[in-house]
Amino acid sequence: MLDTKKIIPDFPILGKKINGKPLIYLDSTASSLKPAQVIRAMDDYYQRYGVNIFRGVYKLSETATEKYESARSTVASFIGSKEANEIIFVRNATEAVNLVAATWGEVNVDSQSNIISTVMEHHANIVPWQQLVKRKNAKLNYLDITEEGRLQPGQIENKINVNTRLIALTYVSNVLGTINPVAKIIKIIKEINPGVKILVDAAQAVPHMKIDVNNLGADFLVFSGHKMLGPTGIGVLWAKGEIMKDLPPYQTGGDMIREVYLDRTVFNDIPHRFEAGTPHIAGAIGLAEAVRYLDSLGMDKVRRHEEELAEYALSNLTGMKEITVYGPHTAGDRAAVVAFNAKGVHPHDMAQILDRDNICIRSGHHCAMPLHTRLQIPASCRASFYIYNTKKDVDLLIEGILKAKIFFE
Ligand SMILES: Cc1ncc(COP(=O)(O)O)c(C=O)c1O
Repeated sequence: MLDTKKIIPDFPILGKKINGKPLIYLDSTASSLKPAQVIRAMDDYYQRYGVNIFRGVYKLSETATEKYESARSTVASFIGSKEANEIIFVRNATEAVNLVAATWGEVNVDSQSNIISTVMEHHANIVPWQQLVKRKNAKLNYLDITEEGRLQPGQIENKINVNTRLIALTYVSNVLGTINPVAKIIKIIKEINPGVKILVDAAQAVPHMKIDVNNLGADFLVFSGHKMLGPTGIGVLWAKGEIMKDLPPYQTGGDMIREVYLDRTVFNDIPHRFEAGTPHIAGAIGLAEAVRYLDSLGMDKVRRHEEELAEYALSNLTGMKEITVYGPHTAGDRAAVVAFNAKGVHPHDMAQILDRDNICIRSGHHCAMPLHTRLQIPASCRASFYIYNTKKDVDLLIEGILKAKIFFE
């Protein structure tokens, strides 16, 4: 496992007590905590060279520009891309999906088209497609899951046809924890219809495992900085240059232009064409620092650490009476996020009882209402683990759940 004794002191928030008790943070799937290194890198930007990029020829602006563009290269190599211009900085994974829907979708989807998503998606990978098919009078179909919470691969062949334009699927479910065999699925899709584009929602994958866009076969990949030790307000759309280079812009204004006349505009090249206005400069710098932090741990080690925690949490939770655990029960193809329900305890009540001991879990539908409908439950509790969590955190969670069960008996 990772050396958490070394890692935990890097996270200032974990050193603070709330009402005299330590923080047991089990909600990294929503947002991870931030190490001092990331906070310092952003602070350094504001303190030493916090000016705008591209617009100045003076030194400070050149430094800011160089740091922003080098953040792009750092993020590109983290996901195996050799082309920094295939990284478009956005606000978050949600904006990245919206950008694809509003640009590629606008040009390539018509009333004959269909798009395929899955019932296990976060709303961010459903609602933009619903809106697009509504605008275009196209169709949106969904791949279902098995009772264990895995995609049913056989369905893909049945759902794809010559009019399928895009498949939008998650790499890792933010509720079930299922790690989809994305590379295999993409291979199957491209064999059936090479023209289908694939968007992978990697918001729960990039922070937790080694991703190499070269081996994946996807056309678009989206993720958020705040789930991978980085700041809020910065996210990434990785998209193949050959797809993006001729697309119309997403938003318009400064920085995304090459020339502007009163009656027309010549747009900039990628990626700047898709980054209108002043971007989140400090955010990009913070994200690059987060990437360096994860790289220094090694993503294979991060994955192994989380797999062990998932295994430990699953073995404890599945052994408990009147607890239902959703998603696969094997840690090997599962992320360290565990959704569960305790009989007779509403998830919000469970979260509140745990909060009395500063154990932070999430309760609700976790922005996956269609998945909860599919599971025939209104809500669930969700505990998620990251590099700073230990088996002791799992023990405290189990103790807390037992307490809550007794309280509501
Ligand atoms: C799988 C998945 N996709 C997309 C998102 C949306 O991320 P953001 O809110 O940062 O845009 C989340 C957030 O929880 C997620 O878990």
